[in-house]
Amino acid sequence: MFRYAVRTSNIIRFNTVIPSFKNLNLKANFATSSLLNHGHLHAPKKGEELYITFVLKDGSQKKYTVSEGDSVLDIAQGNNLDMEGACGGSCACSTCHVIVDPEFYDKLEEPTDDEDDMLDLAYGLTETSRLGCCINMNKDINNIRVALPQMTRNVKSSDFE
Ligand code: FES
Repeated sequence: MFRYAVRTSNIIRFNTVIPSFKNLNLKANFATSSLLNHGHLHAPKKGEELYITFVLKDGSQKKYTVSEGDSVLDIAQGNNLDMEGACGGSCACSTCHVIVDPEFYDKLEEPTDDEDDMLDLAYGLTETSRLGCCINMNKDINNIRVALPQMTRNVKSSDFE
């Protein structure tokens, strides 16, 4: 109950942060990355490609071909997008915060308690916020779109003093 109260007090309505996904320019730049250069990513097998689109801070979009199991954090970092991932994907910071297109939010697995705890500390939390290191690509979320927030907030030990 307490967590819910804290969480809701920090929530910013999705549309106040990111304009409606439906109103965004749908002309996404399409790109594939040189996957062999990124140790955490796997080259998709022919016929098993999945797709993800990132809405960048300037509103432009980039679409990538990825494999099942790739995390949103690894995809972003492997393609040099602006996602810090300070804890290396161990769900211990909030610098991989993404805002998920509401169309896909309910298709994601429920966040763990650890992810919820980190999300509580994320700057600019929205109703569809998640952590990129906790989202792994699968067929259910093929063509997912996620937006990078304008700012992220890292968690330091001094935050707990
Ligand atoms: S990289 Fe730190 S929580 Fe995702």
